Amino acid sequence: MVDALRRLEYRGYDSAGIATLEDGAITRRRAEGKLRNLESKLDREPLEGLIGIGHTRWATHGKPTEGNAHPHATSRVAVVHNGIIENFRELREELIAEGARFQSETDTEVVAHLVTRELDRGKTPIKAVHASLRRLRGAFSLGFLFSGEDNLLIGARLGSPLAVGYGEGEMFLGSDAIALAPFTNTIAYLDDGDSVALTRSSATIYDAAFKRVHRTIQKSQASATIVDKGNHRHFMAKEIHEQPEVVSHTLTSFIDVVGETIRLPEDLPFDWKDLNRLTISACGTASYASMIAKYWFERYARLPVEVDIASEFRYREAPLDKGGLSIFVSQSGETADTLAALRYCKEQGQHTLAVVNVPTSTIAREAEVMVRTLAGPEIGVASTKAFTCQLAALAGLAIGAGKARGTLSAAEERELVHALIEAPRLMAEALRLEHEIETFSRDLAKASDVLYLGRGTSYPLSLEGALKLKEISYIHAEGYAAGELKHGPIALIDETMPVVVIAPFDAIFEKTVSNMQEVAARGGRIILITDAKGAEAAAMATLKTIVLPEMPAVVTPIVYSVPIQLLAYHTAVIIGTDVDQPRNLAKSVTVE
Ligand code: G6P
Repeated sequence: MVDALRRLEYRGYDSAGIATLEDGAITRRRAEGKLRNLESKLDREPLEGLIGIGHTRWATHGKPTEGNAHPHATSRVAVVHNGIIENFRELREELIAEGARFQSETDTEVVAHLVTRELDRGKTPIKAVHASLRRLRGAFSLGFLFSGEDNLLIGARLGSPLAVGYGEGEMFLGSDAIALAPFTNTIAYLDDGDSVALTRSSATIYDAAFKRVHRTIQKSQASATIVDKGNHRHFMAKEIHEQPEVVSHTLTSFIDVVGETIRLPEDLPFDWKDLNRLTISACGTASYASMIAKYWFERYARLPVEVDIASEFRYREAPLDKGGLSIFVSQSGETADTLAALRYCKEQGQHTLAVVNVPTSTIAREAEVMVRTLAGPEIGVASTKAFTCQLAALAGLAIGAGKARGTLSAAEERELVHALIEAPRLMAEALRLEHEIETFSRDLAKASDVLYLGRGTSYPLSLEGALKLKEISYIHAEGYAAGELKHGPIALIDETMPVVVIAPFDAIFEKTVSNMQEVAARGGRIILITDAKGAEAAAMATLKTIVLPEMPAVVTPIVYSVPIQLLAYHTAVIIGTDVDQPRNLAKSVTVE
């Protein structure tokens, strides 16, 4: 079970726990901190039992202490939970008034007490769970273990994913098929609102109205062995180095390499020509990929684009035309806010297209059209290869849209596609600068604040550069549109402040150089990421430069991502932080 939990650590890793039945009674082991703490506890105090539930937590309600770690239990039932129970306060008060004694600060514990109350009223476990589910509001998935029931596990999902795994004389339940991969690849995904009762030989599934239903059983592709780090010290390093390969996979999934044309998904439910505008929603790194895509869709397809952070979009009641197109970008395909934005757009009669890395994810399944990024499993919490694959897929979509709308000629399409095909090679060249970039990182590691500047598509890339640095090195960093420097951030600049300038030699290069001069005049230390022409044109005594090959504008965000990621990575390694699992973060944020 610990192996399965390790595969779920990307969901959270601030505490973990397991419950089993020993002689019919619920027994738990829980530990604060990473899974290895639980593992050593289990070595010291092993758990017996042939049935159990486990959990790795990312704290929402209550500190990441052992007492707040799941499973939460009464003498009758133990529960693990992913997501948030929104009405837990009122339920908690109601249960306390009836005599329930709470042991934690979590929202989860109300579920254990609710179910216990129903069991005490004489209900069977499944009836008790169904009665309790009626009382719960929020987005969550749940797993239950009952005392005295050594052949029964119950699961339920409302908003958060849950998968049933079919074995030989044994059955499994997991928040993700990847957790079940060591045991089975025969999987049924529960639909939203479903619940399931598992015995060793059967799964009885109920829909939201508690009627028995069947869900398709399929073979999952989650690999049986946990992806390893290869020769790298961290998953993040491995994933940075995998980029030429995975970007190439992603590109070739929609490029006709011989004809140098884009092959858009067939049978699209909308016509690019009919669209007046595009709405893109995403969170975190995926939102920066979306901001870059805005430049592409506007330039190549002459389509006005609005990009929104999904957590803002979902609540701002944006007016949308019926029949318009909304795009959602997500590595995991499970981000709660992005999923809510998708559902809002569907309600508004929008066509929906999801750019996702996990094809079996909720967002992938609920969107009308799925465009896959083929980054493979991304384990490092700070996104790297998923980001560049998102860029590759979005560039392809924008060019395809331009062709379909007649805003790009066949020759222009060929030229752009030709440029994209070169991206993996250019990324490999960028990776060769690693040693040099590492020396620049020594400088960044000493700073307490770093500014990233760029114009055009290098502006969102500067936001992503700053995010990477703060996520893994804990150094405060900010990205700014270079032209905004004068409007505030220039006040921060002194000799202690490194400024990373992202500026390929292009039509707006000169403007960025002027901004650099302003920084240099105030003693700021500049690291310029550019190409040979840019390095020559910008020559200043105090400048440190990372010189990339010259390349067409469409691929610069994809290739310039590499030095940005390496700078953050090496800075974090020098500082000695936990690069793959930085504090407070989670790989997949399935709560609001
Ligand atoms: C979390 C991750 C980020 C990711 C964001 C959006 O914050 O730590 O790396 O960019 O969620 O996730 P998604 O899976 O929707 O791309």
